[in-house]
Amino acid sequence: MIRKPFLLGDLELPSNIFCAPLAGCSDLPFRKMTSRYKPGMIYCEMVKIDALVRHDPHTYRLLDYTRDMHPIGAQICGSKPKLAFEAARIIEDLGFDLIDLNCGCPVDKVTKDGSGSGLLQNPERIGEILTEMVRAVSIPVTVKIRAGWDDESINAAEIVKIAESAGASALTVHGRTREQGYKGPANWDHVAACKRASSKMPIIGNGDLFDAEAVERLFSHSGCDGVLIARGTMGQPWIVEDIERHLLGLPKIERTILDLRQVLLDHFHSITSYQAERQALLDMRRVGCWYLKPCSGAKQLRMQINQASSLDEVFSLLDAFDWGTIRFSQDASFASASF
Ligand SMILES: Cc1cc2nc3c(=O)[nH]c(=O)nc-3n(C[C@H](O)[C@H](O)[C@H](O)COP(=O)(O)O)c2cc1C
Repeated sequence: MIRKPFLLGDLELPSNIFCAPLAGCSDLPFRKMTSRYKPGMIYCEMVKIDALVRHDPHTYRLLDYTRDMHPIGAQICGSKPKLAFEAARIIEDLGFDLIDLNCGCPVDKVTKDGSGSGLLQNPERIGEILTEMVRAVSIPVTVKIRAGWDDESINAAEIVKIAESAGASALTVHGRTREQGYKGPANWDHVAACKRASSKMPIIGNGDLFDAEAVERLFSHSGCDGVLIARGTMGQPWIVEDIERHLLGLPKIERTILDLRQVLLDHFHSITSYQAERQALLDMRRVGCWYLKPCSGAKQLRMQINQASSLDEVFSLLDAFDWGTIRFSQDASFASASF
């Protein structure tokens, strides 16, 4: 269950409840919001190894962080062991607390050169890459996998052993196959199987953790050492605090619509101070949707935000809106939202 503090290699983390890497989502403004609620660790979006070693400025920007975001992890994605060595050095030099290898990204563009979940079809390569990363840095090296490529080739437990031999400090497993994408529920039996296969490397469970009760069920079902919250952080950055309080037996904090309004405003301000106006407007549409979609009565506000053509207009809309007219919807489910 909950561990405070939690040890990963020599790194002492505030807890074993982590916020996931989310490409296109867990950017600096997003992480500013989640880090407020004191997760054990937050991750930047994955970055491509090849782009990092050629010092692509856009890739470096994905790794922007501020001092108050520690502990923070970076995640690299690629399939070449030698380049992984170089990339790991760069990540360590940038001051990250931990580096993770992505073996879960299902996108064709990524898997076609054997990266992301493509590596699940080549477990020995995972071992080679991790060995190079461990050799390159003194910060903990971890790996994030899916259960397997498809139902016929479930090999998460085998990869646990390979990762452990290569010196990885932890392994996160998302209980879906690559073929599954996001269809159907995550199968937590795979998390349990990884836990059984590990002799002492911590196993972090992931998949369909949208509330504190689900986290408690996954801990009990699998005996995992920590959990990674992914889509559950979108539009509810406070989820980590809710989970911790639940697991510690503390009273639940009732979040009101006015609390939501304030957090949404803070997130929007964080976006506007980081992005130029055009990008900020696009980001605010996406982020506004996460926060407002689970509320009944907020559809019109969402549409207005989507149509706004300036930042001033967005903030005027939020200011003029009668927040008393909306409420959290019981049946709103992040799990069924499409990303
Ligand atoms: C929009 C989006 C972006 C993601 N980006 C990454 C990523 O960069 N690296 C990674 O390892 N996983 C990524 N994932 C996978 C999540 O970290 C997580 O493993 C997956 O969503 C399952 O957890 P959940 O069911 O709690 O959402 C992404 C998922 C989504 C929905």
